[in-house]
Amino acid sequence: MRILRVPPLREAGIEGSLGWFGKPLAIPVVAGGFVGRDPEPLGALTHVYNPQLPSCEREKLMIKNLKSKDGETVEIRGWLYNKRGSGKIQFPIIRDGSGYLQCVVSKKEVSDESWDAASRVSQESSVRVSGKVHVDERAPGGVELHVDEFEILQFTEDYPITPKEHGTAFLMDIRHLWLRSSKQHAVLRVRSEVEQSIRDFFYERDFVLIDSPILTPAACEGTSTLFETDYFGSTAFLSQSGQLYLEPAAAAFGRVYCFGPTFRAEKSKTRRHLMEFWMVEPEVAFLEFDGLQDLAEEFVEYIVARALDRCAEDLKVLERDVSKLENVRRPFPRITYSDAVDVLQKKGMNVAFGDDFGGDDETVLAEAFDRPVMVSRYPAKIKAFYMQPDPQNSDLALGLDMLAPEGYGEIIGGSQRIHDHDLLQQRIREHGLPIEAFQWYLDIRKYGSFPHSGFGMGIERCVAWITNSRHLRECIPYPRMLNRIYP
Ligand code: 4AD
Ligand code: MG
Repeated sequence: MRILRVPPLREAGIEGSLGWFGKPLAIPVVAGGFVGRDPEPLGALTHVYNPQLPSCEREKLMIKNLKSKDGETVEIRGWLYNKRGSGKIQFPIIRDGSGYLQCVVSKKEVSDESWDAASRVSQESSVRVSGKVHVDERAPGGVELHVDEFEILQFTEDYPITPKEHGTAFLMDIRHLWLRSSKQHAVLRVRSEVEQSIRDFFYERDFVLIDSPILTPAACEGTSTLFETDYFGSTAFLSQSGQLYLEPAAAAFGRVYCFGPTFRAEKSKTRRHLMEFWMVEPEVAFLEFDGLQDLAEEFVEYIVARALDRCAEDLKVLERDVSKLENVRRPFPRITYSDAVDVLQKKGMNVAFGDDFGGDDETVLAEAFDRPVMVSRYPAKIKAFYMQPDPQNSDLALGLDMLAPEGYGEIIGGSQRIHDHDLLQQRIREHGLPIEAFQWYLDIRKYGSFPHSGFGMGIERCVAWITNSRHLRECIPYPRMLNRIYP
């Protein structure tokens, strides 16, 4: 393998990165390494990959940034995505994670080694290419690279994912490779943007991030979905929600949120359930139920707008009908549980007052609206122990679910919390929960109690909706499902 090695900047008599990018250097290259000769200015070779550069400098060489480098000679390292060509010209497409770059390799303009490499390079071989950037709107990504040098870093044989159709079970077994495929890649880029927008939303509104524990001594969302583990002779559970830990933090900081992995041993195989999923949960002191609904809709509107603004390319790859997302503007419809039962019964669904909604009920209900709908005031009996009763009817809880349109179901669950000590204690007992494990949680109702509210949003549910992915398993890098913990 030929290696381009460049002397440290100071050795080369160049100060800092300005000199590096501003003044072209001569890099004599021979097989086997650098020849000790003082660098001297040379043509347009300005962006040679140099392992000594800090990563932020290297970042400038990513494919997504090449549009501003028209006419410059650059070097890119990546993987072969696809290729077509003939006996005289090859068009390899290289990907580096930030984008796709069409290269043009002309037999008469490159060395025999480069031509040979470009002709035999296989899908997903790692490669190094250098050449001149040509901005061309017709090319995918808007630029083309006219190649001077093409080198195979590692030749890949028998890459298991080919352009033909593969079954999902097969692709899930090689999830570690499937991440490279364009649709998977687009979904996870949207996920990354969604997560960033969530952090920005709360940061801009003065929320304090409180990391909640993953090993916990008690259940938050019912005892039937707990993952148990031995904790030095006693039992611990993987956290189902950070909520119980956020409520005390709301008394300390006013507005808080947590954002991390949560676990539910859901012994079902639906497309909407994972065993391990990421949840973001805000909790706000002195916020009551109407304010909670305002917060939830402002939050979801913000996230969707950010994805539309910053993930346009990814949504195009996913063939997402963005007009549906453009509808996601406040105010969202707000209906009560009782209204929801009426709507469902009129649509022929088999539900009675007092039933919890199943996935199909949620889909049918959401179909009646062109944006997310908030359903509130559920029977207290079917909701968690901590929900504040409705002052109009204490059989109902001030809880809300937000249902996404287009069949994506519940994306948010939240409530106002019981702030009365004795009532909360009674509910813990009624739900058969061990009171000792909740003493600390009850303390919050003893030392300056305050009305407060919060919600949780499952990231994968939200990303599935935005990216139009039917199944949650493709919205998390490595899904954990009933029959899968590999890779
Ligand atoms: O409705 P849930 O169970 O609410 C709570 O956990 C509250 N403690 C949150 C709070 O008020 N701070 O879960 C909240 C959200 C759901 O709306 C859904 O988006 C997601 O978490 N979720 C799941 N996502 C994937 N797989 C599962 N098994 C999920 N269970 C819940
Ligand atoms: Mg829920």
